[in-house]
Amino acid sequence: MDTHAYARWFRDSTPYISAHRRKTFVVLLGADAIARANLTNIVHDLALLQTLGVRLVVVHGCREQLDADVAGSTFVSGRRVTDEATMDHIAAVNGLLRSRIEALFSMGLPATPMHGTDITVVAGNFITAKPIGVIDGVDHLFTGKVRKVRTSQLRAVLENGAVALLSPLGYSASGQVFNLAAAELAAEVAIALEADKLITFDELPHLSDAAGQRRSGIDPGGLDACLADRNLSDNTAAHLRALGRAVRGGVSRGHLVSFIDDGALLAELFTAAGVGTQVSEELRGMVRKAKNRDVAAIVEVIRPMEETGALVRRSRDRLEAEIDHFFVAEVDGIVVGTCALYPHGEVAELACVAVKESFQKQSGLKVGTHLVSEAERMAKERGLKRLFVLTTQAHHWFERLGYVPASVDDLPAEKQKLYNLQRKSKVLFKTLEPS
Ligand SMILES: CC(C)(COP(=O)(O)OP(=O)(O)OC[C@H]1O[C@@H](n2cnc3c(N)ncnc32)[C@H](O)[C@@H]1OP(=O)(O)O)[C@@H](O)C(=O)NCCC(=O)NCCS
Repeated sequence: MDTHAYARWFRDSTPYISAHRRKTFVVLLGADAIARANLTNIVHDLALLQTLGVRLVVVHGCREQLDADVAGSTFVSGRRVTDEATMDHIAAVNGLLRSRIEALFSMGLPATPMHGTDITVVAGNFITAKPIGVIDGVDHLFTGKVRKVRTSQLRAVLENGAVALLSPLGYSASGQVFNLAAAELAAEVAIALEADKLITFDELPHLSDAAGQRRSGIDPGGLDACLADRNLSDNTAAHLRALGRAVRGGVSRGHLVSFIDDGALLAELFTAAGVGTQVSEELRGMVRKAKNRDVAAIVEVIRPMEETGALVRRSRDRLEAEIDHFFVAEVDGIVVGTCALYPHGEVAELACVAVKESFQKQSGLKVGTHLVSEAERMAKERGLKRLFVLTTQAHHWFERLGYVPASVDDLPAEKQKLYNLQRKSKVLFKTLEPS
């Protein structure tokens, strides 16, 4: 990478470093990921996240390793029936895998300036479990599910700067140990901790649409549709179910990233485009009124568009003075889009609609559309009847959102006086339907 590209890459990833600091990520390292040579790189990347201030909970699986060890288990709907002898094996395999992961974390960040950074890993009885019981007439014995996550104890571990490591085991009040499904455990832990992210490592680098294109973003409903695909492996299906469950349960984002491609996790978390698939509920909730502290971020979004002539130039002073008119869209705590409403009686101008270039073509996010629909909703709340836009380059886009071409004479009188004849902006209006 040349100096210029390196500097650009570093500058572009910097906002994510502060956005992720003090956030809680639950990471599922399934047994399939653990079996790969890339595991060492993955754990080092997790160690890097931890040193950047991310609070990490790692949930590991053990199924592949166990299948090799325990032949002849009965499975009902993909779940192992765990008898007492099998449970002993499971406890032993989990102990082995846990120490392997702890050993990798103990290497810190080799071959980097942060070599020698100590990372503490804490494992323990954070999960209370109950038997899943009899299903379809089969008693699943020591196969269990999560009854309770001891969140305050887990949070204390994270608060102390340690990585929490959870094996897929749970304990009952009567002292029994239960075998849990790692993906389900990861989802329940993420929900209980109100985590910011659940990240699952998968054999797939990302989900794809019917044309084979990467889906960078998807909502839980979209995941349900993907689950209908019979070609998915059991592991991938379990990961998708966990991501859907977590996001529906209030976890802000889910991510599916490759356990095969070295660096996939970092590219997913520190670049705008990402490389995996991000799962989130609609962006609508991410649009909010702008605050004074957003001015610098708004400037960063709109400057390139002012340079291409798509937007009228606004000084920083003007933005500060007019900040109450602005809305921002946030993804992962980073401002990625903005728009403003300027009322003129019962009509208002929808102005400065702009989305950071790297977020414009991300399938599933539709940042621009969400900004406009949220601005329209707020305009209706304020009793406004119609909105108009002046645009040089996006009239087709506004037409798709129901804006109808009009003439300069239709603008409010004071706006007509300010109309810049040289810009030759197109005028479009939309009547707001009462909700
Ligand atoms: C216009 C803009 C806000 C759209 O943001 P966005 O987040 O990419 O929009 P969405 O994701 O909601 O919609 C994307 C769709 O609109 C299309 N689209 C994006 N910009 C477009 C434009 N200028 N003209 C026509 N279609 C456009 C995309 O191709 C995509 O189509 P698809 O759904 O068929 O794939 C963004 O392109 C932008 O910031 N443009 C520069 C600023 C500007 O011109 N603002 C308007 C003046 S107020």
